[in-house]
Amino acid sequence: MAKLRIDERHELHDIDPMIYGQFIEHFGRLVYGGIYDPESPLADGDGFRRDVIDALRRLRIPVMRWPGGCFASAYHWKDGVGRAREPVYDKAWCVEESNRFGTDEFMRLCEAIGAEPYICTNAGTGTPEEMADWVEYCNEPSLGRWARARARNGHPSPYGVKLWSIGNENYTGGEIGAKTPGEWGRFVRESAKMMRRVDPSIQLLAAAVPDLDWNLSLLREAGDLIDWISIHGYFDPAWETNALSGYARTLRAVGQFEDSILKTRGILAALGLEGRIRIAFDEWNLRGWFHPGIVDFSHLAADHARAAKRREANEDNAQYTMADAVFCAGFLNLCMRHGDSVRMANFSPTVCGRGAIGVNDGGIVLRPTYHVFELYRNLLGDRLVASYIADGPRCDADGVAVDALDAVALKRDGALTVAVVNRDPERPISLEIETAGTHGTMRQHVLNGESADSYNDFDAAQVGVAVRDAPFGDILLEPHSVNVIELGQ
Ligand code: AHR
Repeated sequence: MAKLRIDERHELHDIDPMIYGQFIEHFGRLVYGGIYDPESPLADGDGFRRDVIDALRRLRIPVMRWPGGCFASAYHWKDGVGRAREPVYDKAWCVEESNRFGTDEFMRLCEAIGAEPYICTNAGTGTPEEMADWVEYCNEPSLGRWARARARNGHPSPYGVKLWSIGNENYTGGEIGAKTPGEWGRFVRESAKMMRRVDPSIQLLAAAVPDLDWNLSLLREAGDLIDWISIHGYFDPAWETNALSGYARTLRAVGQFEDSILKTRGILAALGLEGRIRIAFDEWNLRGWFHPGIVDFSHLAADHARAAKRREANEDNAQYTMADAVFCAGFLNLCMRHGDSVRMANFSPTVCGRGAIGVNDGGIVLRPTYHVFELYRNLLGDRLVASYIADGPRCDADGVAVDALDAVALKRDGALTVAVVNRDPERPISLEIETAGTHGTMRQHVLNGESADSYNDFDAAQVGVAVRDAPFGDILLEPHSVNVIELGQ
């Protein structure tokens, strides 16, 4: 029998709750029509969908990243503040941006859901000065035109935005304003200098990638001025085809993402920066977003409306199954194991698209990934303790053998909780849990569906959470299930 051996006396590190972070971008209905829909009968006085806000509140989201993503690399924030909001052409996604949702609306959203705002600035067509002006608008108490503009727009007190990213994926050819490693290091330095001249207390992130040249240039040129480096990961490159891997192949994803973390940690360690510069995995998902024809410019061959319509394929709730939940839990477990360096992660995206919540005009769907966040965020402890799986079985990840079980053990105020995933698509697994101390009871929260392909939709409720109480001891883990176990005295 497989064993989970826990030594709760051996505390490894604390878990920053920002690993449960989220991300929204001006793309499809992620913002407009998903969260912000003033014309909807379900909207509140701020134009937010009440049902969506209620669901977001239950996740106790610690940090929300915005406005992109690729969108950020051609976004000029000044278009989105003030009374007159002129629509502009969005060169990232080739649609019209109304600018009705801008900085002040984003701050109101973060206040409504209790999340820290995290702003990703435009390092594509933008300038260091435009970034610094944005910090002024958000954080300068009273001096100068942008603090005065914020007051005129109804917000005399500064927002105090702590988290700012310089750029988004400027390393990749598809990004507007892509840069070479040498250009990037210098650009980040000049941007960081100006932003810190406005508010030296901000925490700065910079777009990075697990690549030696890129990160060496960035860290040598600007390592003294940044606090984080951000990396991204999507397992399925589905942006052109919406071709999604089957359950077995998705089991490779966590290992692939761990490679990215290990490479990034290695570069930081080699430069003696690990510990001072933290890792933000600030876009991650099992499935890449579907937006065909952007990179090769073919999407407008038909017309804008048709191109945007094809993106609706992201909204099909049936494609988000227990594969997504098993991956999501495994990824969060990975972030906890590397929690001494990975201090933020942002699920990409949160609402609509490939997100945790599906939305239509009449209501919402809580997809399997939503339940992972709700269980983890509300039940798991905040200090990782030593644990390991002994005699654990393996299972097939489309021709590659992977561990069927993936577990972490955490403590909070002396109470012990365990998150354990059974990746095997067919076999239940009995697990013997051994701890240093004694426990009398267990409460097992099981997130699952009938099959690995189970999903939730407006007309289907196939995935949910069952709660089982039992005496402390062996526990049965259903196939393709996510489990959070509270150990009681
Ligand atoms: O496919 C969506 C895009 O994925 C985000 O806008 C970008 O940051 C990432 O490449």
